[in-house]
Amino acid sequence: MKNKSFKTLFVLTLLAGALCVSSHCAIANETNSLPTETPAQRDARMAWWRDAKFGMFIHWGVYSVPAGFYHDKAVSGIGEWIMCRAKIPMAEYQQYAKEFNPVKFDADAWVKAAADAGMKYIVITSKHHDGFAMFDTKASLWNIVQATPFAKDPLKDLATACHKYGVKLGFYYSQAQDWNNGGATCEARWDKAQEHSMDDYIDQVAVPQVKEILSNYGEFPAVLWWDTPCGMNQERARKLNDVVKQLRPNIIMNNRLGGGFKGDTETPEQHIPPRGFPGRDWESCMTMNDTWGFKSNDNNWKSAATIIRNLCDIASKGGNYLLNVGPTSQGLMPQPSLDRLAEVGKWMKVNGEAIYGTKATPFGGELGAAVKAKDGYGNDAMVSSANNWRCTTKPGEIYLIIFNWPTDGTFELPALKTKVLKASLLAAPAQSIAVHQSEAGISLSLPVKSPDAVASVVRLDLADKIVEVKKD
Ligand code: GLC
Repeated sequence: MKNKSFKTLFVLTLLAGALCVSSHCAIANETNSLPTETPAQRDARMAWWRDAKFGMFIHWGVYSVPAGFYHDKAVSGIGEWIMCRAKIPMAEYQQYAKEFNPVKFDADAWVKAAADAGMKYIVITSKHHDGFAMFDTKASLWNIVQATPFAKDPLKDLATACHKYGVKLGFYYSQAQDWNNGGATCEARWDKAQEHSMDDYIDQVAVPQVKEILSNYGEFPAVLWWDTPCGMNQERARKLNDVVKQLRPNIIMNNRLGGGFKGDTETPEQHIPPRGFPGRDWESCMTMNDTWGFKSNDNNWKSAATIIRNLCDIASKGGNYLLNVGPTSQGLMPQPSLDRLAEVGKWMKVNGEAIYGTKATPFGGELGAAVKAKDGYGNDAMVSSANNWRCTTKPGEIYLIIFNWPTDGTFELPALKTKVLKASLLAAPAQSIAVHQSEAGISLSLPVKSPDAVASVVRLDLADKIVEVKKD
């Protein structure tokens, strides 16, 4: 009898295994955010995010009060790390909250700036490493409603504005590092008051707060963005993952939860991986100057041209671009950020078709290989967009994004399996472009003058939906 049931179990296990291999087996991997999801369900869940391509990161919190200075001395490094970098004692750091009164905060204007730039989602710091909750919470007094003269929850207004503009709202939440509520510090602690049990912090602060941010904002958040998993083990991470699965199974989460959880998206920071992440969804997050959280003395702004070309580069490698804005303690987005967003928006109005809903270049290789650089703090910084062009696709379409317009008017492409029916400029659709297609390749005769000094898009309409390069 015993033996028989053992056999049955054995056969059932084999059968399940075979089914799994044969086709759409549920992803039963513990380290995925949704263990019972099929690949088709996953594609459906990820669809809006994959199409969106461009989002706004917002780092906003109490660190915008010191804005890079402690006792009148400039503190090097990224602004939101000032408490750790300058080893500011907890009691002293908490005084900054009294000066955090963002009376000029206008959620509508922020979301409109993002939408006008062509951004389809926003991810804002609901709590960064300093542990300060930018939302109404019952789990800690260290929050914007109870510890500041502002005394309101700005995430509520952002959720309303995001709904109005059709922009998705996501929350960043520092689940592991928390320098004021007894969480981890990735570097040595600097204040005795920080000594605390990490498990108590997870149970009494992180878990209840994640429940709050997942429950109190209507249709949002659409994204949960974890960070720096110092001190996370599988048990701690699982507690947070369980809350997410239970309350918002369709959310998209990144790969920074820790404890072996892979999440949905890779998150290269301040660089563009030369070949993207084949087989994984990914999102490059980058600053516009050299800091995430506002610093009054950081004026090292990237040009709008660099930002536009980064977006094209990322799209050509199949990723998303999460571009940061660090608002002030008054609640204003820095003017240089707004100026750049407006420029990108102008470009996107004409050329967005080459970005939204596209897939990576079919030409492969290291087309547009990233040249890594270091920023002032030794982090991987901007890539140079020295290469000449990028490419994205949709079924039956190729978009050639040309950075440096050919002076002789000729643009050469490798051979394709399908026929090019038509070539046209997104900026001047009526203008005709002659196409010469042969076994050897494709040659386009472009107008002498480029339609856009930064990036001009030529759309190729193809005879087949499947876009394939001819190999010899
Ligand atoms: C880092 C930093 C953090 C920033 C984040 C953005 O991990 O710790 O300050 O929020 O990157 O990706």
